[in-house]
Amino acid sequence: MNFFNHTATRKKWMAIAGLIWLLYLVFHLLSLLNFHSGKDTFNDFYHWFSQTPFYAFMLVLLIATLIFHVITAVSRQLYNNTSAGVRYQKKYPEAIPRVLAWGGAAALFAFIVFHSVQMTLLIDKVDLYQSIVSMFSNPIMWLIYGLGLITLAAHLHHGLTNVLQTFGLSSKHHHAAAIGIVLVVVVSFISIPMSVIL
Ligand code: HEM
Repeated sequence: MNFFNHTATRKKWMAIAGLIWLLYLVFHLLSLLNFHSGKDTFNDFYHWFSQTPFYAFMLVLLIATLIFHVITAVSRQLYNNTSAGVRYQKKYPEAIPRVLAWGGAAALFAFIVFHSVQMTLLIDKVDLYQSIVSMFSNPIMWLIYGLGLITLAAHLHHGLTNVLQTFGLSSKHHHAAAIGIVLVVVVSFISIPMSVIL
């Protein structure tokens, strides 16, 4: 039995990769909240942080865990499809949730790639604060970031529900906890573009 069809091992490592991303998201949104403290605090933090060795380490860890998470999920789905035979050949409308789940995950992946390239290579970092203000004056960016945050909310809710269940929380509690965490994350991110237009 190889790694990709050993359910327990695969699930454990996918969850660890997901949790590393969740930790990054919490760090990312806490540092982004500096935006509300004004231009100098925000720019100074990012100028300092991008010079530290931890920044390069973090980028490598994020790329590696994202690639691992995606490859494992896709391989597992392909393995399920071929091994389960007709059991998985569901007819419309039962197939919709899986199409939606994969469509949402693909859209989130596209957003992460777009946003990372935009932030690491394309944006002017001399005055990062002003660059973010200009970026959110463009309605297309609202659309892209809006879709990114919706797909993030759905994916995070799905992942957290699974992880919290594994930690033994009752179904009522793990749903409430997952929704609470997702709301805090999404509302914190939205506060950045909102403060640009208000
Ligand atoms: C309103 C929403 C968001 C804003 C304003 C924002 C802003 C930023 C900024 C300013 C950077 C560059 C930091 C630097 O120069 O070091 C960055 C990088 C990055 N962001 Fe976001 N971000 C948002 C949402 C997200 C979301 C939802 C994700 C993931 C799902 C994400 C993932 C990343 C990644 C992977 C990087 C590259 C690594 C880094 O430089 O920290 N961001 N973002």
